[in-house]
Amino acid sequence: MTDTDSLRAEALARIADAETLDALEQHRVAYLGKKGSISGLMKTLGGMSPEERSKAGALFNAVRDEVAAALATRKTALEGAALEARLASETLDLSLPSPDAPTGSVHPVSQVMDELAEIFADLGFAVATGPEIEDDWHNFTALNMPESHPARAMHDTFYFPDMSEAQPASNSEAVGQQEFRSMLLRTHTSPVQIRSMLKEGAPLRIIAPGRVYRSDSDATHTPMFHQIEGLVIDKGIHLGHLKWTLETFLKAFFERDDIVLRLRPSYFPFTEPSVEVDVGYSMEKGRRVVGGSGDDEGHAWMEVLGSGMVNRRVIEFGGLDPDEWQGFAFGTGVDRLAMLKYGMDDLRAFFDGDLRWMKHYGFAALDVPTLSGGVGVGA
Ligand code: PHE
Repeated sequence: MTDTDSLRAEALARIADAETLDALEQHRVAYLGKKGSISGLMKTLGGMSPEERSKAGALFNAVRDEVAAALATRKTALEGAALEARLASETLDLSLPSPDAPTGSVHPVSQVMDELAEIFADLGFAVATGPEIEDDWHNFTALNMPESHPARAMHDTFYFPDMSEAQPASNSEAVGQQEFRSMLLRTHTSPVQIRSMLKEGAPLRIIAPGRVYRSDSDATHTPMFHQIEGLVIDKGIHLGHLKWTLETFLKAFFERDDIVLRLRPSYFPFTEPSVEVDVGYSMEKGRRVVGGSGDDEGHAWMEVLGSGMVNRRVIEFGGLDPDEWQGFAFGTGVDRLAMLKYGMDDLRAFFDGDLRWMKHYGFAALDVPTLSGGVGVGA
């Protein structure tokens, strides 16, 4: 009996002293678990005479119940304390004043991309994307620039280190069969033409805005800049569709009707024929303002777009039959469009992250461009 008393006293003392839920759980296992000491006591009942057993049984049961109750009480207390501690540490001071006005603004490049998406959505174009880390097949080969093509050299491409030799020798057969594609930072958004044709098939109407990279840096060139690509693939598409689309887009973007385009024959490997597009502009207060014919008094022409009818070979690389499908494509610099529309004169400032510049040229987050509300709100 005294053994049972001291076991009971010990259990209750330890439970009361337990500082953590883990320690408490260890005590539960030690006393009430399958191999616990109180469970052990219970097992001794089997070897007792009936009178002994009914006396001892009642006593053991009482001890077991008391210990179980003590465990439950202590558990509730420890859980309560843990919650108290968490509530005390996770405070939120609701008396802090809110800022006077919302801070932060939308970068002009993002704003212009949103404007372009809005304008082209109205013409039935979806927004497509592709990776900035591209392979040379999508960036060049499939755009009709085979390995020896001089246009490749003109792109000032950032290549990744050649990993072809890093292939394990045992793999050399597989590498030999499968053409190795070196990786690069895409030099234009045109690879999205190929990716979209391969993925979506035809007909197709997409724009693809995004970052592009060229190893070039001065007042008008940054190693990273933004382009937007346009691609239409359908049946019976001709240059007239291209001209109408570009005119409609530029009128909506610059929000004026007197935009005059001049199409000049040019050369891009991926379009045939290729057309460079100029817009007329004049100088007002030292700023280029788009509008009017470049041949008008006080006006001049400025190149804004590269474009053309998609080369048959490119349509083939896109997995389509060029006898069935034709199309046009265009590409232009988003940063340049933003500069022309909103009057910044240094491209480098776009990427300096200078808050004063952002305050001046940035857009309020709620100035979402819409065709009904105007794509140039907040300008
Ligand atoms: N990818 C060309 C460039 O970066 C632009 C372009 C796109 C021209 C589509 C024609 C058609 O200069």
